[in-house]
Amino acid sequence: MTTQDITTDALVIFGVTGDLSYKKIFPSLYSMFLNGKLTMPVIGVAHREMTVQQLAQRAYDSITNSGMQIDDEVFATFASQLHYVSGDYRQSETFTCLSETIGEAQRPLFYLAIPPSLFDVVITQLDQAGCTRNARVIIEKPFGRDLASAQKLNHILHQTFSENNIFRIDHYLGKEAVQNLLYFRFANTLFEPVWNRNYVDSVHILMAEDFGVAGRGQFYDETGAIRDVIQNHMLQIIAFLAMEPPASGSADALRDEKIKILNAIQPLDESHIVRGRFRGYQDEPGVADDSQTETFAAVKLFVDSWRWAGVPFYVRAGKHLPAKVTEVLVEFKHPPQAVFTREMAHLSNHVRFRLAPEVGIALGAHTKLPGEAMHGHPVELSFCRSAVDEMPAYERLIGDAMRGDATLFARQDGVEAAWRVVDPVINAAGKIHSYDPGTWGPEAADQLIGEVKGWHMSNDEKVHSKQC
Ligand code: BG6
Repeated sequence: MTTQDITTDALVIFGVTGDLSYKKIFPSLYSMFLNGKLTMPVIGVAHREMTVQQLAQRAYDSITNSGMQIDDEVFATFASQLHYVSGDYRQSETFTCLSETIGEAQRPLFYLAIPPSLFDVVITQLDQAGCTRNARVIIEKPFGRDLASAQKLNHILHQTFSENNIFRIDHYLGKEAVQNLLYFRFANTLFEPVWNRNYVDSVHILMAEDFGVAGRGQFYDETGAIRDVIQNHMLQIIAFLAMEPPASGSADALRDEKIKILNAIQPLDESHIVRGRFRGYQDEPGVADDSQTETFAAVKLFVDSWRWAGVPFYVRAGKHLPAKVTEVLVEFKHPPQAVFTREMAHLSNHVRFRLAPEVGIALGAHTKLPGEAMHGHPVELSFCRSAVDEMPAYERLIGDAMRGDATLFARQDGVEAAWRVVDPVINAAGKIHSYDPGTWGPEAADQLIGEVKGWHMSNDEKVHSKQC
């Protein structure tokens, strides 16, 4: 047995008193525990002074707040696995104490749920305390602020961890619906012959959220929509939609193909982006009065590959839009001839991937309306449409990292390729258009998509499109 085969025998969470631990990590750990997948000690680390009982109480609150039912006896066993180390990340005593708590564990997993500015300090201290032998590390997004900082961060990580022990989280990759994109593409031969520039007219991705920065004003103001969701979640979706079939299902075969696509995406320029900001954003706590951060971005991307040359990929993502919905629409070309009626020249088929709030796939087609005239109407053949009842993305990803399975994590070259796409526009002082909360973003975004064809409308979208 190699060390790579040994599963995690101690889970160490830096930032255990933070927001991410509260909202995502504890509920995922408890669910893993209920499924018999969390048998190792869980060691929380944070600056705040508190007892392990207080940490357990925080875990309890976080789990109940997430909507899970707790059986107090079961929880008591879960809580008995918790440990807490409090201390300053800059002081070596914190890490001496951590090392003692880790004890004889052979394969610790360090989860860095902390601001990126602390990664360097924590990694160096872990190394100096002798904790990194055979260890794995999970790094939260955002992975850097641009290409240069991502490269620097990769360099720091590689001084201590080999690439196969680094797990960069993009929680979209852990979503059932996102994996279904990949499965649907490569489990069905039906679509393969038409999945290319000969048949596909355009691809539309919508990630709308009906809330604002939700108490994360300071984080968001340093980030903005492009860094927050386009550079990662949206580009990962494009990579899954556009990649060539991997040679096998192995982590590297899959990531090799994804990275080829990311490398083939043309870097964005100002003519292919519209930025927006909802009115009232600057009044959010933590947001600077003279903020230059966008809360909405619409972009037009092209993939320079044999399969996709010339096909536009339109992405819209924003806060305070009318609905919480994530959807992908692959739109096929019009029929070459209007055989029965003139309207036929404008018809097209589509495949719709609904990623949230429900998971579904549908095929858009046209059928004849009953009657004498050859008139039709659009129909959708729905392949599946289920309420989201999936293993939460964080639970799946933490479990995978514990087993050392990197398939659903971003690799160094993938992260850097994604930064290369957005790098030209993230530091540019481009115009930011205002929009009212509850609308589909600034009207300027319509110009990006052209006069003839409006933005793809999801079923939740009632406005802003000239034609569907
Ligand atoms: C996070 C972003 O990565 O994804 C948030 O930082 C965003 O701003 C969230 O709200 C959306 O995730 P989901 O799973 O709700 O689509």
